[in-house]
Amino acid sequence: MDDQATRLRKLVEGKTSYSDNIQDRVIRANAVNSLTQDSHPSARTIAITSGKGGVGKTNLAVNLAIAMGKMGKRVIVLDADMGMANVDVLLGTSSKKNLMDLLQDDVSIEDVLIRGPYGVSYISGGSGMEHAAEMTMLQQQKLFNKLTACDAWADIIIIDTGAGIGKNVLDFIVAADEVLLVLTPEPTSLTDAYAVIKAYSQVCDTQAVKLIVNKVFDAIESAETANKMIRTADRFLHVDIESIGYVCDDRHLVQAVRKQKPVVEAFPDSLAARCIQSLASNLLTGRNEEVKLGWGGFLRRMLQLGR
Ligand SMILES: Nc1ncnc2c1ncn2[C@@H]1O[C@H](COP(=O)(O)OP(=O)(O)OP(=O)(O)O)[C@@H](O)[C@H]1O
Ligand SMILES: [Mg+2]
Repeated sequence: MDDQATRLRKLVEGKTSYSDNIQDRVIRANAVNSLTQDSHPSARTIAITSGKGGVGKTNLAVNLAIAMGKMGKRVIVLDADMGMANVDVLLGTSSKKNLMDLLQDDVSIEDVLIRGPYGVSYISGGSGMEHAAEMTMLQQQKLFNKLTACDAWADIIIIDTGAGIGKNVLDFIVAADEVLLVLTPEPTSLTDAYAVIKAYSQVCDTQAVKLIVNKVFDAIESAETANKMIRTADRFLHVDIESIGYVCDDRHLVQAVRKQKPVVEAFPDSLAARCIQSLASNLLTGRNEEVKLGWGGFLRRMLQLGR
């Protein structure tokens, strides 16, 4: 088994190029975190990411949001995939305005939010978000003021990121309270997920990272995949990673995508939908309660990290 882990590590050697002054980033992150300990309760920010593309992040983001919405939570999905934003494609909607449009005086949060069913709303990050760190203090303040209003009526903010260990993606996942790392049983998905854990562990405590294994045949295949990842991370990075569940490979999900509908809505009794409902319930019940930093904290950490 260790041989498998060694091979996995060797395969990813050279993939972790996220080397711009890590030490500086840690110091900045700590400084920003200490500045953002607000006393009022804030929304919980959960970033959904992956090493390899096409493993199911967007479907998980949207379906988890709806499953949580059905459980009474108010959820916002932020589409932060700069390369290929596609939450709106999956929802069959299109957004005219995005997060960056909030910098204009006459644009309010209501203008950029698309309200969907079950208390779930959607915001497109917009391509300008990758340049967020270049904003002036005045622009940052404007964005914070408008976004922190969201904390009052969102319990959970789910951020759908792009794949890989590019700086854009890492800034999002480092800024979020929690990170759901999606992988599949394919070997390339595992090696790429390892690269994400390695890059993340150089900046943050990996306690916030949880695995979700998608497109599995059954619970056994999920456990085998998760265990390979957990063992490799433990052996070579000395970090503990947990798995919080899996989603079965299910044609219903593919059919739902074609209909531009989330599977939990189109086929609520399908295997994939039931797996996602169970994941949502794990996320809502099986966690230690902590003070969350919400939009304000998330953005402040992002902007600082981008400097
Ligand atoms: N559990 C599943 N069962 C069957 N097919 C699935 C499952 N999850 C995802 N897929 C398939 O994988 C495709 C890609 O899913 P999705 O767009 O959510 O991935 P992604 O990780 O967001 O991709 P990208 O990296 O391009 O943003 C879906 O359109 C669907 O066809
Ligand atoms: Mg996607």
